[in-house]
Amino acid sequence: MPVDLVSEKRIAAEAAVKLVKDGDVVGLGTGSTAEFAVKAIAALVKQGLAVKGIPTSDSTAAMAEELGIPLIDINSVDQIDVTIDGADEFTEQLYLIKGGGGALLKEKIVASKTITQIIIADSSKKVEFLGKFKLPVEVIPFASRYVMSEIAKLNGAGAIRQMNGTPFITDEGNLIIDVDFKKIEDPVALSNALNGIVGVVEHGLFIGLAHQVIVGIGTEVKVFG
Ligand code: A5P
Repeated sequence: MPVDLVSEKRIAAEAAVKLVKDGDVVGLGTGSTAEFAVKAIAALVKQGLAVKGIPTSDSTAAMAEELGIPLIDINSVDQIDVTIDGADEFTEQLYLIKGGGGALLKEKIVASKTITQIIIADSSKKVEFLGKFKLPVEVIPFASRYVMSEIAKLNGAGAIRQMNGTPFITDEGNLIIDVDFKKIEDPVALSNALNGIVGVVEHGLFIGLAHQVIVGIGTEVKVFG
């Protein structure tokens, strides 16, 4: 039977949403998997669950508003109780690559303020080593050429992300460089190296931020972490 990734995303999201409690401040992720969680949270809100949402992107904010999830300003709270977000790749050590949808900056800020960060994924996202998925690196446009040359020194082959023939612009007005690092053997060292490049705003390596990864595998869910 062919693997139904869409249904794996849905069942992972439904399992994750069970961890949201009445009164929680909830981080709302971005992407096709997180969308299932946002919809499931909205359904619970309609049934009376009182939560306050903090979206990780303009697109998620628009969807949550339309679905009737009350939103609050991230700077009105010290911490976020639970966040449910997707990932492009994850390992058993709960290292992630995120940013395929271009929202990695707010996603990482939200994750950093979150007590319980839950990643939801279909079975295709689990890897032994990160790096098959090109690592998104968000850069200030003024620095893009410099950052690209510094990334080359780290053996990364980068290209500025395009959308409809023009550079993709993030919610914060920056560019994304998608970098092929091949197999990322040491994500911590790479993360530190990228953090040291002036002009890099953030990158999609999430280290020590995920507390649980809930994966849909066929009709079952498996929890890592
Ligand atoms: C958005 O910027 C990303 O970090 C997403 O969470 C990630 O790309 C996963 O997206 P899908 O759930 O659509 O695969």
